[in-house]
Amino acid sequence: MDFEVLNGLLRPKSVAVIGASNTPGKIGYLAVKNLIDCNYPGRVYPINPKEAKIQGLPAYPSVLDVPGEIDVAMLIVPAARTIAVTEECGRKGVKGLIVVASGYSEIGRKDLEDELVATARRYGMRLLGPNIVGIMCNSDKCNASFGPFMPLPGKAAMISQSGALLIAMTVASYVRNVGFDKMISVGNMADVNFGDLVEWLDQDAQTTCITIYVEGFQNGRRFLEIARRAHKPIVALKSGVSAHGAAAAASHTGAMAGKGKVYDAALQQAGVVRASDLNNLFDRTLALSLQPPMAGSNLMIISNGGGVGVLAADAAERYGIPLRFAPDDLQAALRAYVPEIGSVKNPADLTGMGGWPEYLATVKTALQHPWVHGLVVLFCETQRNDPMDIASAIKRAVDESGVTDKPIAVSFIGGAEAERAMKWLVENGLPTYGAPDIAVNAIAALHEYAQMHGIGRDGEPVTEEFTPYCDVDADAARAIIAQARATGRVYLSEIESKKVFAAYGLPVAVTELAKTEDEAVQLAETMGYPVVLKIMSPDILHKSDAGGVKINLRSAEDVRAAYRAILASARAYKPDARIEGVAVQQMAPSGTEVILGSINDPTFGPTVMFGLGGIFIEILKDVTFRVAPISAEHALAMLADIQGAPLLAGARGEAPRDRIALAEALSRYSQMIMDLGDEIAESDANPVLVYAEGHGSKVVDARIILR
Ligand code: COA
Repeated sequence: MDFEVLNGLLRPKSVAVIGASNTPGKIGYLAVKNLIDCNYPGRVYPINPKEAKIQGLPAYPSVLDVPGEIDVAMLIVPAARTIAVTEECGRKGVKGLIVVASGYSEIGRKDLEDELVATARRYGMRLLGPNIVGIMCNSDKCNASFGPFMPLPGKAAMISQSGALLIAMTVASYVRNVGFDKMISVGNMADVNFGDLVEWLDQDAQTTCITIYVEGFQNGRRFLEIARRAHKPIVALKSGVSAHGAAAAASHTGAMAGKGKVYDAALQQAGVVRASDLNNLFDRTLALSLQPPMAGSNLMIISNGGGVGVLAADAAERYGIPLRFAPDDLQAALRAYVPEIGSVKNPADLTGMGGWPEYLATVKTALQHPWVHGLVVLFCETQRNDPMDIASAIKRAVDESGVTDKPIAVSFIGGAEAERAMKWLVENGLPTYGAPDIAVNAIAALHEYAQMHGIGRDGEPVTEEFTPYCDVDADAARAIIAQARATGRVYLSEIESKKVFAAYGLPVAVTELAKTEDEAVQLAETMGYPVVLKIMSPDILHKSDAGGVKINLRSAEDVRAAYRAILASARAYKPDARIEGVAVQQMAPSGTEVILGSINDPTFGPTVMFGLGGIFIEILKDVTFRVAPISAEHALAMLADIQGAPLLAGARGEAPRDRIALAEALSRYSQMIMDLGDEIAESDANPVLVYAEGHGSKVVDARIILR
């Protein structure tokens, strides 16, 4: 990304409004009015072929008639005219385009959008939109949009894929008391997209937190890479997570990937903090834009009422930072300011007796104590205290503590006086909320951010870096796929699938095809008993239903009898079924059933899934995803992600399962679907049997569906 080029687009020193109008209410009228009203210090050039003046400013028939340089042109003419206008902008040497006009891919005119981008590119121009509101920047006093209000000034930057929402958020920012320096509307993202903007905002001196409202990413993988590298927190609200691709899915994994699970995994891997709804997006933005990450899990709560303290403690558990008792020396230090009837454990309860001096002393003491990683201060408005006194005491405590690397969030519960004090606290850099659970949720965002980025993370940091396995045979895997394609198939048989898995070092149960009874016996003798026989037919998907599976065969006689029985049942089940033969497979000893799956997600590409078999996947949908590839360490962490994780750890007296071996299999599998991403649409290893620690795992059945 060229930082300077985007600077020209997003921090323009001159703006031409093409389609500027004198008719109140028109978008071309609003755009000029907004640039005037916000006291934009740059040059504004209204462009209109019929008018000499627009809202008092000299107007020009075309950008080519403008005497000075133009950084940005806003395109506010009907879509059909934008190509010609873009040509003129190119010839004029305009740096960037803000294409407000609608009528492109969003209504099926992708062709027009492509032509627009191609025209802009020919002249080296970057393009925001089309189908957008525009951009706003408080520090540049620039409202190059048709949204009538600038947001409350602050340190966050908002990127929104919805224009209406962006305009609503400008005004909502005042009510919610959350400040933004910039708001950027991205619309169809025909050229500049989330990734470009995050990269740019990450270097922007005025931005401390990047807030995004996203419906879908253009290039999910690129966004993930940029987000992972970003130095500033990113908080995202993702909409449209229902029924994503689920209907069209051909496999278990595809069906499970619905409801945004892949997005959840991808954004988590990228270290993006999530917001659950719009309110939460504002609340988390406020904390992330004003406070440092919470580099540890010791959260201290100070309150003047038992009730709010307990509410906050409940919320802390709900949001993943359960409270711990303060260490003895901290309790002793706090005791000096807390009455006997109060508590110093955590939450610390100053009781109704607590006034500003107690807040000052306890907040300072807690912040300075090395055990404390983050602080939530709660205040119930009572007759005894003026909320403003408490607010000043909290601010003073923070300043006097000299501590700048621990976050603090505040909640005041009260009336108009409390509201005023809260506003003052926010203006002074302390995120403040109207309810204790919201303050805790906000500090949890700073905790999540720190955890995802390994800032003081509890325990050993996970190695996210993936090093490819060298002992894999990609050529062998590709040869098997090519053979299947040569016969016109877009799927691999179980035997072929297993060979591909084996080529990547996954522990598959040896399986071979027998075309005659004698062959079956021979294979069984070579593999060793017991064995399993399974019907191999492209027309029989559910082998057991067709009487096509016989297990635990312990002798040549068993194999012969099973072979005949399988063929007979298969023919009875489906007389016209094409039968390729019978698969002979080593019978794996029983173990804990798990499923490894993959999909090629339209946004993020090859993605792995892990879950326990049986009811866990069928009924509880207890699965977890990761965008591939993932290291074995990362895979190990993934195993702990599901609710059924204790079963692998050794629940109810069972020996712990071989999670190390399973994690390696998962990591190898992630490499397989990455390497063969151009071939494999979906796949699974189902079931995989996992044995006790040190005894590995076995892929019993496998399936690969080609693209
Ligand atoms: N150069 C400069 N000005 C031109 C021009 C050109 N080549 N061609 C026409 N104009 C002038 C028109 O004369 C008109 O000025 P006037 O009011 O003085 O007559 C002005 O540009 C606008 O053109 P008009 O044809 O009246 O269009 P419009 O204002 O009705 O609609 C859009 C234009 C872009 C607003 C409309 O097509 C549109 O896309 N609306 C939706 C935009 C939107 O909502 N985007 C964000 C979604 S989140």
